Amino acid sequence: SEPKRSPIKCVGPDYRSESQKPIATVSVPVDFDSVTVLPQTPQLIALLSIIRSKDTNRGDFIFYSNRIIRLLVEEGLNHLPTVEHTVTTPVGRAYNGLAFQGKICGVSIMRAGEAMEQGLRECCRSVRIGKILIQRDEETSRPRLFYDKLPEDIADRWVLLLDPMLATGGSAIMAVDVLKSRGVPEDRILFLNVLASPQGIQHFSTKFPNVRVITAFVDEGLDEKNYIIPGLGDFGDRYYTR
Ligand code: URA
Repeated sequence: SEPKRSPIKCVGPDYRSESQKPIATVSVPVDFDSVTVLPQTPQLIALLSIIRSKDTNRGDFIFYSNRIIRLLVEEGLNHLPTVEHTVTTPVGRAYNGLAFQGKICGVSIMRAGEAMEQGLRECCRSVRIGKILIQRDEETSRPRLFYDKLPEDIADRWVLLLDPMLATGGSAIMAVDVLKSRGVPEDRILFLNVLASPQGIQHFSTKFPNVRVITAFVDEGLDEKNYIIPGLGDFGDRYYTR
């Protein structure tokens, strides 16, 4: 499919004038209310520049991807419900705060999604994590469910679905169908994603307008092998093997 032009913007702190800020390619804008693209801050753009480079070694790829994943998890948690919660401080005063309401779990789409489990565990102590394995069926060339292991009470939980790359959307759509078949309503699923294609977002969010998507960046498009472009290559290979 024909790549879109990505916007090029000045990126930098507000106290600098536009002419004093360096320019960088930022995320393609998204029309869906259900999709949140992380703020295109200098920090995020610099982290993405490291993991996109073909010259970044595996150790750095892991370290800097983990930082982006952590930003996604922290933003994802802002989309969960809270209730009023007042505590008493050590000096005897009340503080009117909040507490998270409801149980959560993570579900990673294997193998690349497993790279996002640690970031979720760092933010949510002893969180339950399930797994789904979807692979392309050689005969039909369509995604096929090979394996799943999900918490038995998943229908009572908010689900943070984890997959760093949203290319065509085929696997993510199948994963949401599995979650729905176990009784999880669409509006209790948050899909956390590092890099998406416009086609993947369009396909996924048209099918599931009530699933919230949190992504760090929407790229220009897909190449003839359905790799995201400019992209970062094969996330699972770079995180786990090279
Ligand atoms: N999965 C990847 O790892 N990379 C892509 O570009 C697309 C899907």
